[in-house]
Amino acid sequence: MDRRKPDHYTQKAKKAGYPARSVYKLEEIQTKYRLLRPKQRVLDIGAAPGSWSMYAAEQVSPQGSVVAVDLQDCRIPDSYRQITILKGDAFSPELTEAIKARGPYNVVLSDAAPATTGNRTIDSTASAALAEQCLLLAPSILRPPGALVIKIFQGGEEQELIRRLRQIFKSVKPFKPKSSRKNSFEIFLIATGLKSEAVRSDREKEESL
Ligand SMILES: C[S@@+](CC[C@H](N)C(=O)[O-])C[C@H]1O[C@@H](n2cnc3c(N)ncnc32)[C@H](O)[C@@H]1O
Repeated sequence: MDRRKPDHYTQKAKKAGYPARSVYKLEEIQTKYRLLRPKQRVLDIGAAPGSWSMYAAEQVSPQGSVVAVDLQDCRIPDSYRQITILKGDAFSPELTEAIKARGPYNVVLSDAAPATTGNRTIDSTASAALAEQCLLLAPSILRPPGALVIKIFQGGEEQELIRRLRQIFKSVKPFKPKSSRKNSFEIFLIATGLKSEAVRSDREKEESL
């Protein structure tokens, strides 16, 4: 599939008013796992142009809220009042502080992806580094039994990531949406049921610094 060619999902997203076709990946995740519920607080890492945040805002209802973080500008209509946009590196000290100040969250979503080079080894290593940062951040911002969704490019490091996620979440499942482009090697890890002891040990680590 030529990435520049608008496919069925791109056209459907445009008609529905979402800025990116990736909204249908989150819709598939939601249909299968039902992570997003009314009144929840959600963090969306790698949110631009904004379709996951818009979809999440619709699921959590006007009583819920979404924090959308990206290095780039989001294209989210002003009518989505319960979305707060933070621009910058989600893992920088400044943004981490701003993210924490708006938490704790019930669900953390990450569709974050590195700027790709076309070299599968380089791209999957960069994607694994982003996934690792999400895994390290999650216990300090999620409220148990919170959920975490992480995108990762398959390249060998996902098994180790699954193993580490299983130490802090009760269930971790890999998921490949049908709406992922045919030539994409991305998968999503769906981690649910953050263990309370993971939060405690994370707090102890912070206190000892
Ligand atoms: C595939 S796009 C996300 C699409 C989005 N989920 C949507 O539906 O509109 C991946 C995004 O991850 C962002 N990203 C990558 N590294 C990041 C970081 N360290 N902090 C914040 N955003 C990051 C990129 O700027 C890019 O916009």
